Amino acid sequence: MISDNISINSAGHLCFAGHDTVELAGKYGTPLYLIDEQRVRERCRIYAEAMKNAFGGDSHPLFASKALSFKRIYEIINEEGIGTDIVSPGELYTAVLAGFPMEKAYFHGNNKTDEDIAFAIDSKIGYFVCDNIEELKAINAEAGNRGIRQNILLRITPGIDPHTLEKISTGKVDSKFGAAIETGQAEEITAAALTLPNIRLRGFHCHIGSQIFEFEPFCDAARTMLSFIADIKAKHGYEAEELNLGGGMAVRYKEEHPSISYADNIAQIGALIDSLCKELGINKPTILMEPGRSIVADAGMTLYTAGTLKEIKGFKTYVSIDGGMCDNPRYALYGSPYTVMLANRANDEADCVCTVAGRCCESGDLIQENVALPRPKRGDIVAVLTTGAYNYSMSSNYNRLPRPALVMLDGDRDYVAVRRETYADITRNDV
Ligand code: LLP
Repeated sequence: MISDNISINSAGHLCFAGHDTVELAGKYGTPLYLIDEQRVRERCRIYAEAMKNAFGGDSHPLFASKALSFKRIYEIINEEGIGTDIVSPGELYTAVLAGFPMEKAYFHGNNKTDEDIAFAIDSKIGYFVCDNIEELKAINAEAGNRGIRQNILLRITPGIDPHTLEKISTGKVDSKFGAAIETGQAEEITAAALTLPNIRLRGFHCHIGSQIFEFEPFCDAARTMLSFIADIKAKHGYEAEELNLGGGMAVRYKEEHPSISYADNIAQIGALIDSLCKELGINKPTILMEPGRSIVADAGMTLYTAGTLKEIKGFKTYVSIDGGMCDNPRYALYGSPYTVMLANRANDEADCVCTVAGRCCESGDLIQENVALPRPKRGDIVAVLTTGAYNYSMSSNYNRLPRPALVMLDGDRDYVAVRRETYADITRNDV
């Protein structure tokens, strides 16, 4: 199996985190998001421990909550003692509602409005990860209005090509995010931050992209950022206390994908950072990382009910499901790979090559093409694996479809963390 929290029981049913998924589909209905709570906790611990060992001091992970944001997830990561990265006032609001300690929250984004900035400061946000000079001035002004000095990191573009999909690559020089070292704008924004009275510059941030299998791009990023820190120290006498290396480590969506040891990767980055700091003559900064996908992706699974099977002789066979791009837009957007199974007949021979199609009124609404399944029948339960990251968080009400419920699996226990939307929810704001 693609992940060790998935198995098949004696009834031939797919099990997830020890639960029979066919029973869960019966109990909660479909489409249904499932999240394995223990897997999320395990991953938080792997990152926290590996980072402490590799980087020492106060180094720790921040969960990138754009991957999966709802109240309960902030409670879980808080119980695990790690911080969070939020990118919008909506994520901020959710974290506050969940009682998350906001001093451990970092506010990202390339266009924070004055209202966002005021809301975050009033919510006692720990840090802004500041993207550009205009924003720097706006934060300085709002902090000044409140008589505080606001902690910030500056988002720097290190000019690294991480060899991932163009659309999820963010560290290259022409990215919409951050200030590039190559163009001199990174130094310029640093100099500006050092002059502003209501800003406390704590260090720098970079994020090179997402779903990165190779380990070298992270080393390249660390090398570039530490050299930048040394350069700034030499030119401006300022030495960064914190370096945030962003997220981006890949997960297995298909059997052919390699599995990654996050702890080994972190240990190697740690060794490199130690030697680079000595070589460059700088103090080792506190290191932060922002894993999103690698904390929650394989903690997730989505269940659907199969509807129509449509065979277009000589062309293809479609199996339609009761969800689609509205609950998982990733194939439509990026052509992302997924493993698909029939949960109620998990041991049957996979003798039918199908395209899994959603129910939206749009021909690009596909979940996956060319998957081998036992010939699907109306009423079968279709499971899409590894959907914990960027599925619920990227869902929409396209075609006015209600969002699925999100159910947590925790040992023997299963409980609803996000209720299924109703038609009334969808029309609530229609005047
Ligand atoms: N930190 C920053 C500043 C980010 O922009 C991101 C992701 C992360 C951390 C977390 O990266 P992760 O560990 O999850 O790779 N919607 C796309 C992914 C976009 C990622 C955007 N930034 C997808 O579904 O693949």
